[in-house]
Amino acid sequence: MSNRTSMLIASVLLLSLAGRGFAAQPSGAQEFTTFCARCHGSDATGNGPDAGEKQGYWPANLTLIARSHGGKFPRQEIYDIIDGGKRLPGHYNFDSPMPLWGLSFQLKGKEYSEQSEAAVRARIEALVDYLESIQKK
Ligand code: HEC
Repeated sequence: MSNRTSMLIASVLLLSLAGRGFAAQPSGAQEFTTFCARCHGSDATGNGPDAGEKQGYWPANLTLIARSHGGKFPRQEIYDIIDGGKRLPGHYNFDSPMPLWGLSFQLKGKEYSEQSEAAVRARIEALVDYLESIQKK
């Protein structure tokens, strides 16, 4: 292999690695694994290692949401629960261990700016899409 060819291969490799590093946004599935699985379980049925973290609370089985809503996945309601702007009846006392992602997902140092709010919305939308995709019929 000529020097030139190996240089070329090296730069193509570097470029593709950089591309990955800067890839805009993790998928809803990835976000779920990173932030939700510890309580809700990697299969979202509510059996993560930290499920029993707080006495009196148990993470919901997130694959049965549509089923318990007459077969229709209530996107806005689920969005609001994840965001934290609207809590489950009896749980909006903030005692619930379910984190307020509308706060946690804010961009550090730019909290509540338009840019940060847009980033939060995109991440929660991706999570809602993911949850909708894993509903049991
Ligand atoms: C520290 C544990 C914990 C983590 C982490 C967590 N949750 Fe929860 N979640 C709960 C608990 C507990 C409940 C049940 C509601 C309650 O008791 O307040 C819940 C409820 C919910 C509900 C309402 C379900 C329903 O049927 O109404 C949704 C939706 C939800 N979580 C999504 C998520 C998503 C998405 C993430 C990750 C971004 C996440 N949760 C991370 C503990 C957690």
